[in-house]
Order: sequence, then C-alpha cells, then structure tokens
Amino acid sequence: MGDNVILVGFMGAGKSSVGRLLARQLGRCFVETDDMITAREGRSIPEIFADRGEAYFRALEEETVRLLALKSGDVIATGGGLFCREGRPEALRALGTVVWLGGDFDVLYERARRAGERPMLAGKSRDEVEALYRAREPFYRRADLTVDTTALNPDQVVRQIALALRDRTNPLPSGERAG
Ligand code: S3P
Repeated sequence: MGDNVILVGFMGAGKSSVGRLLARQLGRCFVETDDMITAREGRSIPEIFADRGEAYFRALEEETVRLLALKSGDVIATGGGLFCREGRPEALRALGTVVWLGGDFDVLYERARRAGERPMLAGKSRDEVEALYRAREPFYRRADLTVDTTALNPDQVVRQIALALRDRTNPLPSGERAG
C-alpha cells in the first residue's frame, strides 16, 4: 500500500483547509486533485464545467487518478465526486490511507454554499443536493478512516486524523485501550 494520506468527502467537508493544515503538521507536501486539473487545463473548475460540461470534468478526474499513482508521502485532497465511481475506492486505497471527512448533511451543505463557487450546487435545490450526497455516501463509507466534522473546526479535525493515523501505524497490543 502507498503511504499517502487521501482526504475524501462531500463538498463543505473541509478537505482543502484540513489537508493543508495536516500536511504542515506531518511535514508532508499537500496536493489537491482540483488544482492538478485546473493547472493542466489553464482554467478554473467552474470554467471547465461551463465550457466543457461535467462529463469532460469527470474524464479529467479519471486521468488525475492515474497521475496520483506517482505520488508518495503526500497529503492529497480530492474533489467531492472523485471517490464516488466504481473502482475508485480500491484505486485510492492502494495509494495510501483514505480518510472520509463526513458530517451532518445540512452542516456540510451550508458550509459548501457559503464558500466558493461550486458548479455541482448551481441551480439545484437542497433536496437535489441531498440526493447526490446520499448516492455518494456508500462510496465514502469505503474509506479506511472516518472523522465526523460536524462540530469540529479544522484544527480539531487534523488532531483526530493525526491520532487515528498514529493508531494505525502503532496499534496497541490487544487488550489495551487508548487513554
Ligand atoms: C465536485 C466537488 C468540487 C470539485 C467539482 C465537483 C463534486 O470539489 O471537484 O466542483 O462533484 O462534488 P470540492 O469537494 O472541493 O468542493
């Protein structure tokens, strides 16, 4: 298995801010799949959706997953839909530890609406976005680790991830409990 830490989860989960902080704390490089795509295309994610449509963006994500195989030791934040295709959970788990930043849907939705321009929210009702979330949830559940971000700030999420990663690397002997 690879040694990257890969953050997945719905829009508004805090993958970018948490990823940046986590990378700094662990002394690793930080990579975002959306940044890899915008760098390659020379335009923003909203522009890609507007000019070429969602299917084209998803094809770029496919190619990005192939490029991620070259990464090692990085913290990688993925776009909210990247993990949610057949074969992706297996492909990403082969590259490292996959962490799902989850949380209450309405909290994620409000965060996502507040920050940034998100083509997957444009023109959709809350219920339509929730349907998208519910369709994606079974994929997110296939992550190695889950952190519920509902009531946590990014620093607290980073702390939880760091502890969970440490426990995975140095599991307690059976019978002992974490204090
Ligand atoms: C998307 C989420 C976005 C970005 C694109 C599509 C999605 O990333 O990849 O707009 O399908 O959920 P964030 O999860 O960082 O907002």
